[in-house]
Amino acid sequence: MCEDILVCECKNVCLKEIINAIQNGAKSIEDIQNSTNAGTICKMCISKEYDVYGERAVHIKELLK
Ligand code: FES
Repeated sequence: MCEDILVCECKNVCLKEIINAIQNGAKSIEDIQNSTNAGTICKMCISKEYDVYGERAVHIKELLK
C-alpha cells in the first residue's frame, strides 16, 4: 500500500518508488520499467496517450520532464 500516490496499479508501484528510480539515474520510460516494473502491463501509467479515460492521477512521462 502506498503512503503517497499509486502510480502503476498493475504492478503496484508508488510515486516514491518512481522518484527514487529517477534520482538513481533512470532517464527514460524504459529505465523506469526496468528498475520498478511500472508501466509494463496496460501502460496507462506511462502517459496520457495510453490513459485515454484519464484514470491515472500521475504519469511516468510527466515525472521524467
Ligand atoms: S497501470 Fe501501470 S502498467 Fe497498468
